[in-house]
Amino acid sequence: MDSVCSLTAGGARPRLGIVTASTRPGRMGPVVSGWLVQRVREHRGFEVDLIDLAAVSLPFLDEPNHPQLQRYMHEHTRQWSERVNNLDAFVMVVPEYNFGMAPTLLNALNFLFREWAYAPVGFVSYGGVSGGTRGVQMAKQVVTTLKMMPIPESVTLPFAPSLLSADGQLAPSLAMELAAAAMLDELQRWELALRRLRQRNREPGPVGA
Ligand SMILES: Cc1cc2nc3c(=O)[nH]c(=O)nc-3n(C[C@H](O)[C@H](O)[C@H](O)COP(=O)(O)O)c2cc1C
Repeated sequence: MDSVCSLTAGGARPRLGIVTASTRPGRMGPVVSGWLVQRVREHRGFEVDLIDLAAVSLPFLDEPNHPQLQRYMHEHTRQWSERVNNLDAFVMVVPEYNFGMAPTLLNALNFLFREWAYAPVGFVSYGGVSGGTRGVQMAKQVVTTLKMMPIPESVTLPFAPSLLSADGQLAPSLAMELAAAAMLDELQRWELALRRLRQRNREPGPVGA
């Protein structure tokens, strides 16, 4: 897609949040996210905010009010809200744990509501034989409740450790590289199509007004 036509009114590229969902020591997530950052730079359609949930370090949801009200009691929630609210599209980089989505991602999603709405979201998943796709299917159910638009184009990395080169970098197949480009093209289309809705939703007033 021609990236020029999707520039914002201020002439900037839309901002893509790449969310590394895994947080455990020795995790593979940052390697996968690092590879994706390079694909986004080559694609040239987005600015990147690389979000490592291990660094964001949210506790289990500890807000007393429903996030829809945006009456946040904790500084960590206010910071998370501000960061997400500044982004136009997302890619969740997700492993699969016990055939399910990473609980860290579910927790990070649950902290907010309005901030996620009308943002398109793609998935890069990795794991064993399923390539993390069962976890992605579970995540799609959650993100649609937050009014995000999950796009079908995705990157699936089965037997992910076998895709690591000797120096520990991700070395996926050509098909996986092409899948990343297709996902970014589609995210760009949806970001542009949803922009007005997203902007209006982020103005003060009732949700979805
Ligand atoms: C608790 C746990 C559960 C797992 N369950 C699955 C699974 O259901 N399907 C799968 O393909 N891989 C599973 N794996 C293997 C992960 O896909 C693999 O360890 C991957 O590297 C995890 O991502 P991370 O290293 O970024 O945490 C599991 C790993 C852990 C630690």
